[in-house]
Amino acid sequence: MNDEKMYRRALGSFATGITVVTVRGPDEAVLGMTVNSFSSVSLDPPLVLWCLDKSAALFPIIEKCDAFCVSVLSEAQEDISNRFAVAHQHETDGLALTSGATGVPYLSESPTNFQCSVHAQHEAGDHLIIVGRVQAFEVTSDAKPLLYYKGAYGSIEG
Ligand SMILES: Cc1cc2nc3c(=O)[nH]c(=O)nc-3n(C[C@H](O)[C@H](O)[C@H](O)COP(=O)(O)O)c2cc1C
Repeated sequence: MNDEKMYRRALGSFATGITVVTVRGPDEAVLGMTVNSFSSVSLDPPLVLWCLDKSAALFPIIEKCDAFCVSVLSEAQEDISNRFAVAHQHETDGLALTSGATGVPYLSESPTNFQCSVHAQHEAGDHLIIVGRVQAFEVTSDAKPLLYYKGAYGSIEG
């Protein structure tokens, strides 16, 4: 096994949740991508971050956007995670969306969402760290989260 494979495997041993980040495209269309690099940063002010691959199809759009939403996925939303991880398939057609405080909609069915303005961007190798200031958030259900661990989905038992 080469070093990169081992490194990826090591990173995969850190369990995460899964989110879909939504932004508005140039034609006002709502676009989404699956993201598991989401993390909280600061409580006061309320800041969160996620890391955007510079080779992502949405990079040129997201790099210039001033707002985004983070929809945390539930264990029932594996199909949504798969849908927004397909290359060049980022349209949200057919999904229930709710308009957020920043004008960017989020996935209505997600148990938790964070509606953010872009607070800062930081260069970080082949990724761009995007720091968002949470303008509003909602916890609409206590559905169990979708987990991601060692390259596979999981859910909390019990
Ligand atoms: C579980 C999972 C987590 C992901 N997390 C991220 C992430 O944090 N940042 C990122 O830029 N891409 C992430 N991706 C990849 C994007 O979802 C993917 O690049 C994009 O949606 C589809 O590829 P495209 O950019 O070529 O259109 C993740 C994919 C999966 C399956």
